[in-house]
Amino acid sequence: MAEVNLLNKLPKPKRNVQARQTAKSQEVIDISRQYGELYFDGPRDYGYGGYRYDGRWIPVAEDIVRHFGLKPGDRVLDVGCAKGFLVKDLLHVCPGLEAFGLDISTYALMHCEREVIGRLHLGNAVELPFPDGSFQAVLALNTVHNLERPDLIRAVREIQRLAPGRGFIQVDSYRTPEQKATFEEWVLTAKFHDYPEGWLKVFAEAGYTGDYYWTIIE
Ligand SMILES: C[S@@+](CC[C@H](N)C(=O)[O-])C[C@H]1O[C@@H](n2cnc3c(N)ncnc32)[C@H](O)[C@@H]1O
Repeated sequence: MAEVNLLNKLPKPKRNVQARQTAKSQEVIDISRQYGELYFDGPRDYGYGGYRYDGRWIPVAEDIVRHFGLKPGDRVLDVGCAKGFLVKDLLHVCPGLEAFGLDISTYALMHCEREVIGRLHLGNAVELPFPDGSFQAVLALNTVHNLERPDLIRAVREIQRLAPGRGFIQVDSYRTPEQKATFEEWVLTAKFHDYPEGWLKVFAEAGYTGDYYWTIIE
């Protein structure tokens, strides 16, 4: 199990924490957690403020292929794939790779990239509908922190079950009290978050032996 920053080539998102803090209410949080149109393609107050393909995942896909030594014929699953941008780019950078995604959002799957139609499954990270050991790598990027701790443990166990020691999980975290305060002003959907030490306890409890990294708002 290793800490590895596989998303370090993604551009840093623009975040107006003050505006988010002002707009945030329980109603906004409840709507965001439905992962519907407002979350992906509505105003920034509800989530992404427009979730559109722009190729930014291509260098990340290259690093993932290199990190896991993926080759044509291997299967990789992206849990929380949204509209399938990373799945599309994995197919692009490694022709012959069998890349798939799974997401809880019908809206995201119904607005997926054309190249991934039929490769994205509707489902919940807590119960992945695939046999043990069926993937050469399983990714979950900014997804499992959206679960309460018991379900989070189930989801991490599922990733481990599908690809023992060959997972990559990125989650919301912070290294200082100041970063924690900023995160708490920004957060909409995450139901569990912690310092890296707390996350490592979650991973240990779930028997997870794959890799991981943190999304930290600086
Ligand atoms: C912050 S987005 C991340 C999307 C993508 N992985 C990325 O990094 O751009 C979180 C995604 O997780 C999905 N999601 C939330 N809870 C989920 C669950 N229990 N099972 C599967 N997907 C879930 C949401 O629909 C959304 O697409």
